[in-house]
Amino acid sequence: MTVATGASEQQAQELGASPWDSQHREFDYDLDDIEGAIPEGLRGALYRIGPGRLDVDGHPLSHIFDGDGMVSHIEIGPVGVHYRNRYVRTKSFARTNETRRPAKGFSTQRIGGALANALRFPENLANTSVLLHDDVLYALWEGGRPHRLDAETLQTYGPESFGGALKRVGAFSAHPKTDPATGEVFNFGLDFFPRPMIRCYRLDRGRRLHGFATVPIPKLGFVHDFALTERHLMFVLGPLVVRNPIPVALGLRPFDDALSYRPELGTTIVLVPRDGGRPTTVEHDALFHFHVTNAHEDGDRTVVELVAHDPANGWEGWNRHLRNYRESAGPAFGGTLTRLSVDRRTRRVTTIELDDHGCEFPQLDQRFATTEHRYSYTASASVPGGDPDSVTTIDHRAGAVSRYTAAAGDTVCEPLFAPGGDAEGDGWLLTLEHRPARRTSRLVVLRADRPGDGPVAAVNLQHHVPMTFHGAFRPGSGLRH
Ligand SMILES: [Fe+2]
Repeated sequence: MTVATGASEQQAQELGASPWDSQHREFDYDLDDIEGAIPEGLRGALYRIGPGRLDVDGHPLSHIFDGDGMVSHIEIGPVGVHYRNRYVRTKSFARTNETRRPAKGFSTQRIGGALANALRFPENLANTSVLLHDDVLYALWEGGRPHRLDAETLQTYGPESFGGALKRVGAFSAHPKTDPATGEVFNFGLDFFPRPMIRCYRLDRGRRLHGFATVPIPKLGFVHDFALTERHLMFVLGPLVVRNPIPVALGLRPFDDALSYRPELGTTIVLVPRDGGRPTTVEHDALFHFHVTNAHEDGDRTVVELVAHDPANGWEGWNRHLRNYRESAGPAFGGTLTRLSVDRRTRRVTTIELDDHGCEFPQLDQRFATTEHRYSYTASASVPGGDPDSVTTIDHRAGAVSRYTAAAGDTVCEPLFAPGGDAEGDGWLLTLEHRPARRTSRLVVLRADRPGDGPVAAVNLQHHVPMTFHGAFRPGSGLRH
């Protein structure tokens, strides 16, 4: 075990009771405190990433998006389970360790007032998601280049430009989509020069990156996620837009103050053909969303599932909870799982709400991505406005819902599907459960079809892991055992 972030041993031990408390240490050990039994067919590696430290030398960071990226790797092998975590060695991470001062973030300002913040873009913290492709692990942050990591040791090799294909800031968003049929990865990056646009990329199986389309951003908007079908990249561009950038550019206000939700602008849905043909644009009512489960083609219609948030709070209300994360992120957490069906011929959109529990971080059996999926998996809240304390499976064909809820005061994160058999949904859901009162976390294994039965196995860590955003599961025998 080492303390990685320049925190003193005493600071590292001063663990509080929030899922967002920093974890300054790096660990490497076998996990032998297992309740229940790891299923015979469950083998592979779970990767989770999120902000590892939310305070720097006594300075609390202003937003959950502003912590340095820390990757957890839990390898489930035939002879045991192993835990390892490492901070991504970004330039910002090294500088923060040296100066012991917070980096410029999405909402966190550098110490030193406007002069210290003017004309500065938030630092690449590599904290949002991971991509596993061709046995290489990438730590992603949507405003800049991915960082390439060793998929086993988690050693950071550095920022990746894919042979120069990612130019300038090299934005490569945090929600790439892998086509299970071709093994290709599709992604996008926002670029604002010479005009605001979305750059669309295809990463082939040999890790060569190809730019194949650019889409103008009509409202100078912000987009976090997209959807992939067999034929299209689908962007649902809600009216979360840049409103007042001047005070931000002058360093007077943090970066997130530049964004505003403007429902009167509506939502623009853009379908970009994967072969680079002409995009189709459809206008729709305003939608406030961040994450997409999946999309598929159905004749003239393209169907997408996403989590829609209540627009009544607007960006400011939603974002306020993410700034006050030590109190509760709950009211910002829960959205409604929603299906949009976009008729490309008539340009009409129909909307259906799929579940009335507040949820986020929607997932599916990724082997069925780009086709019509039967099962959706979400982190959800058992009470309206509550924190994410449940894992829910929604069977769209049977109209059935099964939900596991953690003990009072504990929270869960995004559930990832790990395959067991060949059929869709035949496998398990893996989530990291945060137990602030015990100052620990645990890996929880649930039957994907019946999470409500409770954990098949729970693997107790010797410490806590701060709440993670996203991750990946690599099936198969572990590399280590
Ligand atoms: Fe995300």
